[in-house]
Amino acid sequence: MNEQWKFFQGFLRQPGQVGSVIPSSKALEQHIVRQIDPEHAETLVELGPGTGGTTRAVLAAMTSSARLLAIDIDPQFVRHLEAIDDPRLIPCTGTANNLSELLSQHGLAAPDVVFSGIPCSTMGDELGRQVIESVWSSLKPGGRFVAYQFRGAVKQIGEQILGPPSVEWQWFNIPPMRFYRWDKPVQ
Ligand SMILES: C[S@@+](CC[C@H](N)C(=O)[O-])C[C@H]1O[C@@H](n2cnc3c(N)ncnc32)[C@H](O)[C@@H]1O
Repeated sequence: MNEQWKFFQGFLRQPGQVGSVIPSSKALEQHIVRQIDPEHAETLVELGPGTGGTTRAVLAAMTSSARLLAIDIDPQFVRHLEAIDDPRLIPCTGTANNLSELLSQHGLAAPDVVFSGIPCSTMGDELGRQVIESVWSSLKPGGRFVAYQFRGAVKQIGEQILGPPSVEWQWFNIPPMRFYRWDKPVQ
């Protein structure tokens, strides 16, 4: 079935959780790739892969030995991801705030990169804080957290915990999206 239609069905199931009626554009997918530099990462985590356009773009740029744990709260999206035939991909049903447990369940090391498209604006401040704390404590020293959002909730919550992010825009997406990036100090 058409990916856009599957995505829209996901939106109808849980509009607040999905936060968009269509998946990200190719330009946005490539913006993620530029921001996270998958060629130099061994363990990557995607929060909110949805129907997997962003996932496939990152897989295309990863090395052959890298692993990508893709975590979505919606099991129907995860079933869709399971159809991607790539041994480097680990599709997983779960919630972003349980990141450290999910990493250890899959025997994965601290990630070099976590990237997220989950809509922080609809999940509420408390859960948003738990997600950001879970990402930050799981990330490897020197690792990177990238969140793309069209509202500013992740920035507001994130800067209270992590300090100010670097910000970029991707205009070629509906709606235009902001990228927030935090780099974890090496020590
Ligand atoms: C805007 S969609 C992004 C989909 C895809 N990455 C893209 O850019 O086209 C947000 C996704 O986050 C997922 N999601 C929402 N809350 C979540 C949570 N707490 N943990 C994991 N996934 C979540 C939704 O099910 C949905 O697939």
